[in-house]
Amino acid sequence: MGRLAGHLLIWACLLHSVTAGFDNGGFQHNDIDYLPEVEDGQCIFPFRFKDELYYDCIKFKTKHKWCSLNKTFIGYWKFCNWEDFAKCMFPFWYRRMIYRECTDVGSESGKKWCSLTKNFNKDRIWKYC
Ligand SMILES: *[C@@H]1O[C@H](CO)[C@@H](O)[C@H](O)[C@H]1NC(C)=O
Repeated sequence: MGRLAGHLLIWACLLHSVTAGFDNGGFQHNDIDYLPEVEDGQCIFPFRFKDELYYDCIKFKTKHKWCSLNKTFIGYWKFCNWEDFAKCMFPFWYRRMIYRECTDVGSESGKKWCSLTKNFNKDRIWKYC
């Protein structure tokens, strides 16, 4: 039961180290500050930004979350509205089960979650529903 929470913690640590890395790495501003938003663009997930792969809209020193419009960020971006955020991927594989809807299995808080890729066992990318 504590496994998902464990993953969460690891994930949070990774995320923190990534953010901390940016803070220490002379990365003063978010690059997107200097580039115009493509308002009618389409988010591409996952996208690569600063050597990391992202499966949902991200927020680095920006007021709002944003996404890349290319598989690798090359300067095209947009702020995310509710339609842009990553969607649950159904069905998805978790442990030995196939899930066709959000589940609270493995969730410490009891809140339902879903995988953002078809294979949670391998990718471990998820969000709350
Ligand atoms: C990146 O995405 C933008 C917006 O969709 C598109 O116009 C451009 O051609 C793409 N560039 C590449 C190299 O895929």
